[in-house]
Amino acid sequence: MTDQLLNNFNSLQFQNDLLRWYTETKRDLPWRKERDPYKIWVSEIMLQQTKVDTVIPYFNHFIDKYPNLYELAAADQQDVLKSWEGLGYYSRARNLQNAVREVVEEYGGEVPSTPKELGSLKGIGPYTQGAILSIAFNQPEPAVDGNVMRVFSRILKIEEDIARQRTKKLFEGYVRELISKEDPSSFNQAIMDLGATICTPKSPACMFCPVQEYCRAFAEGIQEELPIKKKAKKQKTIAYVVLLIENENGEFIIEKRSENGLLASLWQFPMVPIEEIGMGHLENWVYSEYGLRINLNQQLGKLKHVFSHLIWKLEIFGASTDQTAIDDDRIIFVDRSDITNYPFPVSHQKMLKYITNSTK
Ligand code: ADE
Repeated sequence: MTDQLLNNFNSLQFQNDLLRWYTETKRDLPWRKERDPYKIWVSEIMLQQTKVDTVIPYFNHFIDKYPNLYELAAADQQDVLKSWEGLGYYSRARNLQNAVREVVEEYGGEVPSTPKELGSLKGIGPYTQGAILSIAFNQPEPAVDGNVMRVFSRILKIEEDIARQRTKKLFEGYVRELISKEDPSSFNQAIMDLGATICTPKSPACMFCPVQEYCRAFAEGIQEELPIKKKAKKQKTIAYVVLLIENENGEFIIEKRSENGLLASLWQFPMVPIEEIGMGHLENWVYSEYGLRINLNQQLGKLKHVFSHLIWKLEIFGASTDQTAIDDDRIIFVDRSDITNYPFPVSHQKMLKYITNSTK
C-alpha cells in the first residue's frame, strides 16, 4: 500500500527507537517467557477485553492446569469454565477449547502458522491471529485492537472514527507497512506496551515517549483529542428477580443456562424477568416454568451487572419449596457444600457468597 500519510515518515528510525525502548523496559509478563504458540494463544484469548493485571493469575493457573494443548483438549468443559470463572466473556473459553481440539485432531497438535488456517479456528479473529503469528511465529502481521489504534491515531494523526470496521482495516494497512520485518514480535508487543504505559487514553505521558519525535498529534498538541470514537448505542437494561430457593434438606435450586448466547452453559439461580411477569404473578410463573411450588421470603439484596451491550438489574429474594426433586432436567437441587463446584457468572458468584457464608 502506498499512502500519503507514510510519505514523510521515517519507518526504519521509528522501528529502531521503539525496539530499543522495548528491549530496555518491556513488562515482565508470564507469557513473554517463551514462544510456545499454545501459551501465546491462551494469553491472547484471555487478554481480549481484559486487563493484563487481571489476566496474570488466571493465565498462570490455567497453564498449570492445562500445560499443553492435549491436556486442554481432553478436559471437561465444565472444569475449563470453572478455571475461567470471574474472567467474563465465557464463550472465549468454550471456543478456545473447541479450537484446541481441532488443532489436535486436524493439525497433529501443532498450532497452524498460516493466516488462513489460524484464522479459521474458533475464537481467532484478525487481532488474535496477528498477535499469535507475530509473537509466536515472528511473522510481520498486524495485530490491531483499540489500544493499537489509539497509539497510531496519534503518531500518524488519523482522524477517522475508530468505532468503524473499515477504520480498523485502514490501521492494519499502516501497521503492515510500519512493522519491523526483523522483529515483528517485539514491534507489536512494544506498541501494546506503549499503549498500556505511556500512550494511555487519558493524560498520555508524552514526556517519556520513546517515539515522541515521530508523533504528529504531539507536534500539534492534539494527542488528547485522538482517537476519534463515536459513541456506541446505550445498553438496554433488563430487571430480574433472582430466587435463592432452598428446600428442607438445605439444598438450593440452580439452573444451567442455554448452550448458546450470553453466559452459555454457566449455572445460575433461577431468574424471573420481572417487568414482563409482574411481582404478583411470580410464584405462578415459577410453577408454570419449572413445575416448582415456592413461597417467596424476604428480599436479600440488589445487584447491578453491566455487560458490554446489556445491563442486568437484579433483586435477590430468598424462597422456600417443599419439593426435593423435580421433573425438569435444566434445574437441579444442590447442597450448599457442593454448589461452588459449578461455574457461575460473576453476578451469581456474589449471591453464592451469601449462601456459603450463611450457616445452616
Ligand atoms: N494485550 C493484548 N495482547 C497483549 C500482550 N501480548 N502483551 C501485553 N498486552 C497485551
